[in-house]
Amino acid sequence: MLDRLDQQPPDALLALIKLYNDDERADKIDLGVGVYRTNDGATPVFESIKAAEHKLVAEQDSKAYLGPEGDMGFVHALMPYIFGENPTRNGRIEGMQTPGGTGAVRLAAALAGKSGINRIIMGNPSWPNHGQILKDIGLEVVSFTHATQAGTADLDALKKALAEGREGDAVLLHGCCHNPTGIDYTPDQWDEIAAILADSPVMPIVDLAYQGLGRGMEEDAYGLRAVIGKVDEALIAYSCDKNFGLYRDRVGALYVYAQDGGQLDAILSNGHALARSSWSMPPDHGAAAVRFVLRDSELTQNWQAELDRMRERMRAVRDRLAEAGTAGSLDLTPLGHQNGLFSMLPLTKDQIQALRSDHAIYMAGSGRINVAGLTMGNIDKFIGALADVTA
Ligand code: LMR
Repeated sequence: MLDRLDQQPPDALLALIKLYNDDERADKIDLGVGVYRTNDGATPVFESIKAAEHKLVAEQDSKAYLGPEGDMGFVHALMPYIFGENPTRNGRIEGMQTPGGTGAVRLAAALAGKSGINRIIMGNPSWPNHGQILKDIGLEVVSFTHATQAGTADLDALKKALAEGREGDAVLLHGCCHNPTGIDYTPDQWDEIAAILADSPVMPIVDLAYQGLGRGMEEDAYGLRAVIGKVDEALIAYSCDKNFGLYRDRVGALYVYAQDGGQLDAILSNGHALARSSWSMPPDHGAAAVRFVLRDSELTQNWQAELDRMRERMRAVRDRLAEAGTAGSLDLTPLGHQNGLFSMLPLTKDQIQALRSDHAIYMAGSGRINVAGLTMGNIDKFIGALADVTA
């Protein structure tokens, strides 16, 4: 039986990690998978997390099972940061822990599917794994163009897609730091989207995977809060991979905003059942460390300061690219007002390959770059290489 399985290509983004690691050139630059890097090119464990882990190891008295919902102290500790004042919206929001943001997206899609959603309206491009997850779950994807040629969000395309939406549709929105383009909706645009969704049968699913890496923790939650301020129900997929630097510990959460708080138990019982049959329960360690950070005011302050430094560094890289203006035929100025780890460069496959072979610069095949892979030490080489391959 098993010999019937065809060879599958490796995930292109994850395969890039290996290609980069195997390259022996000393001046290689990794702009591939989305991990934050310091100006020295390192991805250190947050000091606030390290301190929380010390406390956790000292205080944890058992590793017995929790349950499919995971660490509810963690789930609740995050809520004021995500939802702001009145974080449960009078008892209408509850959540559960998931293995990373991917687990949260998967669970959101499965829950949507189980509740009768069969089509997902989604901007193109999107994080490639979004499409893979939706396909795997058997949901149809209806695409709209996410960005204009000018490097701004194409609100008209979203509005048209929503106008054609019907009962049984959901729309998948990136809460902030759009992956792969870095092109977010402005607050005014979010208000407009929220108002449209208020009168639409389309249910929002908001993927908030980079809170704090764009404009700030509060600013990056604007869109999500605008949407849930207007709609009856929504699903929210959250990731702590980036804003707590916990990538490999797989720390995420799914939140449900229900029409009525009385429905939450039933809705989440479906989430628990789906989790039980998939991963049974999420890994504990990273989520427990986040709970320790958020329950200790000093650690919380330290975490916020670390996150601020990350965001400021990425902003400095973006400013530097924008100041360069052009590189060969490329206009780099739009990168200055985009947000988060990613931006997309309109490069051909051959140019991306030439950057890899001639300059040891690794980026996704889509032209997506992780701006955190750029440092004040390698950015000039990068701009020069872009000029070279686009000349
Ligand atoms: C990325 O897009 O690089 C990250 O979200 C990591 C991943 O899992 O793809």
